[in-house]
Amino acid sequence: MDLINDFPEKIRVLITGGAGFIGSAVVRKFLQDLDCIIFNLDKISYASDLNSIYDPLSNKDNLNESRHNLLKIDLYNFSKVDEAVKYADPDFVLHLAAESHVDRSIMGPGAFIESNIVGTYNLLESVRNHYQNLNSRRKETFRFLHVSTDEVFGSLGDIGSFNESTKYDPRSPYSASKAASDHLVNAWYHTYDLPILITNCSNNYGPWQYREKLIPKVIFNGVNNREIPIYGNGKNVRDWLYVEDHVSGILKVLCNGKIGDKYCIGGNQEKTNNEIVNEICELLDELIPKEYSYKNLITYVKDRLGHDQRYAINSSKIKSELAWKPKYSFKEGLLITVSWYIKKFMTKK
Ligand SMILES: NC(=O)c1ccc[n+]([C@@H]2O[C@H](COP(=O)([O-])OP(=O)(O)OC[C@H]3O[C@@H](n4cnc5c(N)ncnc54)[C@H](O)[C@@H]3O)[C@@H](O)[C@H]2O)c1
Repeated sequence: MDLINDFPEKIRVLITGGAGFIGSAVVRKFLQDLDCIIFNLDKISYASDLNSIYDPLSNKDNLNESRHNLLKIDLYNFSKVDEAVKYADPDFVLHLAAESHVDRSIMGPGAFIESNIVGTYNLLESVRNHYQNLNSRRKETFRFLHVSTDEVFGSLGDIGSFNESTKYDPRSPYSASKAASDHLVNAWYHTYDLPILITNCSNNYGPWQYREKLIPKVIFNGVNNREIPIYGNGKNVRDWLYVEDHVSGILKVLCNGKIGDKYCIGGNQEKTNNEIVNEICELLDELIPKEYSYKNLITYVKDRLGHDQRYAINSSKIKSELAWKPKYSFKEGLLITVSWYIKKFMTKK
């Protein structure tokens, strides 16, 4: 953490997508641990929840405007983005804003092209102007960190794993739009010397994720006695990482990563969808027992179009070069997550 811990003045951090699931965890971490001013650029969509910042930090003197500035802006609007970057005058940019749900990308890819590709382009251009005007001291420490996904690498068979040199082979409109944004970020490094870093992470889970995603959806449907849908035969495999471990990886890369490099971040916790859903049902059986098992609610539904079979990440590079390792086992992370959602979904507001 040297780069930010030893920073000579209060750090100015522009975080895009800071009202979403992972972005808000990054915002919380910065506000809790560092002397910084956050500029949270987010269009505030259905996936955003500002309570994910306000609730956990509500008792702390962390949220006045001198520390957390919400900039409600769509990255698709270049002039607003440019204005926001000038106003924030950042030392670091962490780019997390994206349309993120594969099913939505299949139904309506346009929004993914606008936010993930054009939005990233707009941000890169504004940040490039900003970077070029920094003095040499600030230029030296400036970083643009782009948060991406393992889905850009396509789909694996039964063996093997993705690493930093895996060829891109995206299959869904979501992963294709993320792959395009990774390429743009890389191009701004090679062409304009913008000091960038890219992370490609596996599936995240934890509190504050919008309930259309697998884990919160299973818990929500279980708690509400609704059918729990599983796509196809449920044998698709994903690698899972607790969101706070992803945040610690992002910070390691920001502070110690090699400019221009990419880092794969994974939990080494591969699970089929069947395993995930059954483990959640078992926890629900234990924590809020009913006369029947929650597994009775499981229903197999028509498979997602172009459903990738397996993702797995080899995190050796970030582990060996940056001494990162995840703190939470899947069992620990899932218990925290299921308990948190039970409380949320069972508390009527
Ligand atoms: N969730 C995962 O498992 C996972 C895994 C690896 C990488 N990622 C990447 O991490 C990032 C964050 O993912 P998440 O799960 O927190 O997503 P999310 O959908 O929960 O949140 C995304 C946030 O970005 C904002 N946003 C979207 N388009 C925008 C635009 N055009 N302008 C401004 N704000 C916009 C949304 O309003 C939302 O608050 C994404 O880039 C995603 O591709 C996610």
